[in-house]
Amino acid sequence: MKNQSHLLSITRPAQAEPDSGIVKAAMYGFGRPGVIPLWAGEGNLPTPEAFCKPAAESLLKGETFYTWQRGIPELREALARYHTRHFGRDFSSENFFVTGGGMQAIQTAIQMIAGEDDEVIIPSPAWPNYAGPLRLQGSRPIEVPMEFRNGKWSLDFDRLFAAITPRTRAICLNSPSNPLGWTASRDDLIAIRDVCRKHDIWMFGDEVYSRFYYGAKNEARAPSFLDVCDVEERLLLANTFSKNWAMTGWRVGWLQAPRELGPVIERIIQYNTSGTAAFLQRGCVAALDNGDEFIAMQVTRALANRDLVVNFLREFPQIRFEVPTGAFYMFFKIEGMTDSAATARRLIDEAGVGFAPGSAFGADGEGFMRMCYLRDPAQLQEALNRFGQWLKTNHPK
Ligand SMILES: Cc1ncc(COP(=O)(O)O)c(C=O)c1O
Repeated sequence: MKNQSHLLSITRPAQAEPDSGIVKAAMYGFGRPGVIPLWAGEGNLPTPEAFCKPAAESLLKGETFYTWQRGIPELREALARYHTRHFGRDFSSENFFVTGGGMQAIQTAIQMIAGEDDEVIIPSPAWPNYAGPLRLQGSRPIEVPMEFRNGKWSLDFDRLFAAITPRTRAICLNSPSNPLGWTASRDDLIAIRDVCRKHDIWMFGDEVYSRFYYGAKNEARAPSFLDVCDVEERLLLANTFSKNWAMTGWRVGWLQAPRELGPVIERIIQYNTSGTAAFLQRGCVAALDNGDEFIAMQVTRALANRDLVVNFLREFPQIRFEVPTGAFYMFFKIEGMTDSAATARRLIDEAGVGFAPGSAFGADGEGFMRMCYLRDPAQLQEALNRFGQWLKTNHPK
């Protein structure tokens, strides 16, 4: 056998794919005593017992066998009920497919719509988990920079639509956005819908943060593609149990898609994970049917924490940000800071706080940091105090 690195005998995309900058920062600080971890997109509350119980009971009862590729019928029915409740019209279980987290919903969508050299347009800064799986299968993420001007993020629709080429298969929109907290308006969604219809390309929406919405009073969710589209048109929506119901470790999500694609999605699921554990899905049914109060509590907590962060950071003229209208992240610029990955490491070492570097969200995110604020308020305040002290010494204004 030749003495050659194994790395040279794996596929080029697998060789070339960089680490996620979020995971890299997290791994740098993981397990360090005393570090307050605000790098990941999760809160610090465990899953409520009421959702865990049905899962544990199912497991103990022996629900330990292979199951439906699309997800158990009871969960797909519960998804239809949940959507009917929140969108004020009827939904069918035929449009829901249970996946291994939101991430597998994204991966399934990508595997269906983008082949080699096909392009998917993504406004950026963006969560890196669209571009990564696209590149891994030889497709091309086309990032269209959003602009941060006068303390506001904006998406230039002329620029977005000018990126469409004959190879474009989809526009991917994450709203509310991770990391920006920016939320598309109903008119924005209509504009994207109309252009996708005109070019016969897919709308690929990621609305996992739609319940974490602080835009308009009394609105329990952000504007959605479901407000302006038919479920049977070229629309794919990725979603997850992770955020709303504090179930990040369960790895259960769903893909909403035209029913005609059912057999295709089943095949993709078969050849990826062969389905999601049935006992986990029992807990998800309980979350959908009985979780509205828990979500309301989480959103109230997130909003109070957002304001805590906003009021704190406003005291620092060298920090610039837009007040987020959705999700649970603060994405802020530190004037004069040019290497966010190095800054993330220094903050772990020197201040004991863990943020994700802006560069993890594409080149347009350099100069920024992302903080997840869905935490215990006292812990969040402590993280802010440590960061503020560090800032005064290292980036004074
Ligand atoms: C925008 C966005 N979409 C999807 C997900 C997927 O979540 P999960 O795979 O944990 O269900 C996340 C998680 O951070 C996210 O931020």
